[in-house]
Amino acid sequence: MRSSRPAAALVLAAGEGTRMRSATPKVLHAVAGRSLLAHALAAVRAVDPEHLVVVVRHERDRVAAHAVEQEAEAVVADQDDVPGTGRAVQCGLEALATTRGDAPLVGTVLVTYGDVPLLTAATLADLVAAHEEGGHAVTVITADVADPTGYGRVLRDGAGHVAGIVEHKDADDGQRAITEINSGLYAFDAAVLVDALGRVGRDNAQGEMYLTDVLRLAREAGGTVAAHRIDDVWQTEGVNDRVQLARTGAELNRRLVEEWMRAGVTVVDPATTWIDTGATLSRDVTLLPGVQLLGATSVAEGATVGPDTTLRDCEVGPGASVVRSHAEGARLGAGATVGPFSFLRPGTVLGAKGKIGGFVETKNAVIGAGSKVPHLSYVGDAEIGDGANIGAATVFVNYDGVDKHRTVVGDHARVGSDSMLIAPVTIGDGAYTAAGSVITQDVPAGAMAVARGRQRNVEGWVERRRPGSPAARAAERARVGTSERTDRPDREDQEDQEHQEEADA
Ligand code: UD1
Ligand code: CA
Repeated sequence: MRSSRPAAALVLAAGEGTRMRSATPKVLHAVAGRSLLAHALAAVRAVDPEHLVVVVRHERDRVAAHAVEQEAEAVVADQDDVPGTGRAVQCGLEALATTRGDAPLVGTVLVTYGDVPLLTAATLADLVAAHEEGGHAVTVITADVADPTGYGRVLRDGAGHVAGIVEHKDADDGQRAITEINSGLYAFDAAVLVDALGRVGRDNAQGEMYLTDVLRLAREAGGTVAAHRIDDVWQTEGVNDRVQLARTGAELNRRLVEEWMRAGVTVVDPATTWIDTGATLSRDVTLLPGVQLLGATSVAEGATVGPDTTLRDCEVGPGASVVRSHAEGARLGAGATVGPFSFLRPGTVLGAKGKIGGFVETKNAVIGAGSKVPHLSYVGDAEIGDGANIGAATVFVNYDGVDKHRTVVGDHARVGSDSMLIAPVTIGDGAYTAAGSVITQDVPAGAMAVARGRQRNVEGWVERRRPGSPAARAAERARVGTSERTDRPDREDQEDQEHQEEADA
């Protein structure tokens, strides 16, 4: 029998998460690039319930806003001040009844938690299938764990059927020895659930309405209660504190990295490679040690990233390489190279076979195919054509203290080393600028712009002004040892020649 579409899925996220000791609600803490709640919603969404309900209370506005951001159709249900998972589900169902109108809910209702990030959609689909094939009133995901402390324990009757769940705090020593735990993830028959919740009390160690009581009540009402035991205990692991946050985050990452390796990505050091859920990689990508691929980063076939590189929301083209750099919101073309030690900020676009070398910062800069910014430069608010070369230590001076301005550099232009390009300014196609120039005016195509002080040599200055110094002695040796000075070439000619050499360098 094929399982049907669940009538509803409820994600419980009302708890306070005190042990996080955080100003941020627990379910908004993130692993693998998205919140615990977003992970929970993604798993639930994939089994396609007719209604998705998120139960909130603690920091309700922030949690509700985040839930709706992830899942626009989600029904947000407020839990009142009656505590417990049973009450949370009851409030969820009441909110759903209000949105749906009078017709009673029919079919399967899934209940999951907002703080269980490793739960997969496949496990939920298996749960629904097992529940519906068995025709059960309740099916609960259980697992055998080495240390069951704190969890509800699964009670079984003489025939091995699930008789109920006892909370750790209510359990006697014999029950506490049981290692099969309640994950807190369930499939319920909707009618059974609604009916049983109406009879759940608060007579227990915590004075809460326990959802777990529904299992006993369902059985008493003549339904069958089944356990869907899973071996992968991680999928049931909730996050209660920051130690568990790190543990589950590391495990989720380990799983993601392993998936990418199986899909054809070489990961040299899985332990130092972090890949967010939203990142995508193609085959024959190589990730060297110490790489973080964050957000919606994509890396195309044959590209190499790392070592020690962080990319957030970047697009790395086929065969490109990024070495020891940090980039956010950058797009790198096929065969482009970046690094080592560069910082690419949002709006950086590097064309095919382009190069951003070492110690370069870029922002809002479109750099054409084959163009190079090899060393020690800042390129902000710029558009650089194809095949251009930006000399070492060039600064695109984009900010006048009030406004940002753009610089345009044409195709095959060559900006001399240590140039300041004071925006707004345009360097024409094929134009050159002399090293050390401060360019404040547009440079026509094909021109050479020289904008720097002329050199003056004060002959003999060191021997006169620094007598007895090592420099003076060296100068003296040079003077005495040198025969007659040859005449220097005409200054203008020499300068032109220097510029030519610099631009060619
Ligand atoms: C619950 C189960 C326990 C199970 C454990 C698995 C009950 C009574 N106990 O334990 O058998 O082993 O989960 O992790 O159900 N929540 C609400 N409203 C509340 C209380 C909790 O929405 O009033 C939400 C929390 O935000 C959280 C989830 O329910 O997402 C579980 O709450 P938590 O307090 O961690 O579970 P326990 O009651 O300790
Ligand atoms: Ca818990």
